[in-house]
Amino acid sequence: MAAAVDESQKWVLMVTAQTPTNIAVIKYWGKRDEKLILPVNDSISVTLDPGHLCTTTTVSVSPAFTHDRMWLNGQEISLAGGRFQTCLREIRSRACDVHDKEKGIKINKKDWDGLHVHIASFNNFPTAAGLASSAAGFACLVFALGKLMNVKEDQSQLSAIARQGSGSACRSLYGGFVKWIMGKDDKGTDSLAVQLADEKHWDELVIIIAVVSSRQKETSSTTGMRDTVETSLLLQHRAKEVVPKRILKMEEAIRNRDFTSFAQLTCTDSNQFHAVCLDTCPPIFYMNDTSHRIISLVEKWNCSEGTPQVAYTFDAGPNAVMIARDRKTATLLLQKLLYTFPPNSDADLNSFVLGDKSILKDAG
Ligand code: ADP
Ligand code: DP6
Ligand code: CO
Repeated sequence: MAAAVDESQKWVLMVTAQTPTNIAVIKYWGKRDEKLILPVNDSISVTLDPGHLCTTTTVSVSPAFTHDRMWLNGQEISLAGGRFQTCLREIRSRACDVHDKEKGIKINKKDWDGLHVHIASFNNFPTAAGLASSAAGFACLVFALGKLMNVKEDQSQLSAIARQGSGSACRSLYGGFVKWIMGKDDKGTDSLAVQLADEKHWDELVIIIAVVSSRQKETSSTTGMRDTVETSLLLQHRAKEVVPKRILKMEEAIRNRDFTSFAQLTCTDSNQFHAVCLDTCPPIFYMNDTSHRIISLVEKWNCSEGTPQVAYTFDAGPNAVMIARDRKTATLLLQKLLYTFPPNSDADLNSFVLGDKSILKDAG
């Protein structure tokens, strides 16, 4: 005999959000508290334009769901890791009444504890390859859950929750130039992101990303920075002596749209971050030969022009993020890259993404 259908179990409420990734120009590397994800220094990033490298996440709730589940790029993943649980718990504890009149659904604040969510997330760019998938991913997750559960917290409070999913994620809650303030409090309440300048500020900059390899990196950012904190003396010097001064200079460069200073600070900070990785025991190699060739190409060009035309920065992976001072320079840069790394040759780059409201161009 067929079981009677319980009409009260039939509804599903869904929210979809899209969040761009962000690329740090002054890097976060090293935690002073692993569990709360509190960093050893401030960091500054640029959030890419929406629709380029981004995560799309749909969160849904239904009384028919028996436990929380998540699919990443079409494959079910375990939510058992502390970070997902923390984000879910923090958002659930702030959930409010939800009343969807059209669908006739009413969820009271106190009902959320007994309801389960299903999460489906897609990255339109390589996952765990040094293009900040954890940043776009956790920012999008926290934002979407917050919308679903009618959480009233503002962006900066949401950023402190996203931070506990992945540190870099707190910066993706805002567009434009964003600073993650490391904070002083050991509970982490003041470790959050603030917007330094919105997306319209300095909009002549063009970001080009050269995907050198879309393979998953061998050392995750979390493991890499844990090893660095445990073994690198250079990190202590960087966090205490170098970054605090650099942060002030970077804020000034951004405020004044001073590309010379911006490019010098960006490149030198990327190089110091990779030096810190080399200073780790055992050493971590995130960049490869192609990454090094890209650095040389940009350095030689900048030197021959007398002033920087392009800044480069590499996260925890071999892929290059280049920031050109304007559109004309970006076109020249693409030409130089295509000349040096011809399509369908051994030195071929996987693809380019032009970060200024434009195209994904397959070079291969
Ligand atoms: P990346 O350089 O891409 O940020 P990380 O090592 O920092 O690499 O983080 C990769 C991890 O981030 C993945 O293993 C996964 O746990 C998490 N992640 C990636 N994409 C998403 C997503 N869309 N939603 C939630 N978590 C994600
Ligand atoms: C090199 O934020 O991915 O991209 O906090 O452990 O999740 P966890 O690490 P993650 O580290 C990012 C490191 C970086 C620099 C940066 O984004 O600032
Ligand atoms: Co990451």
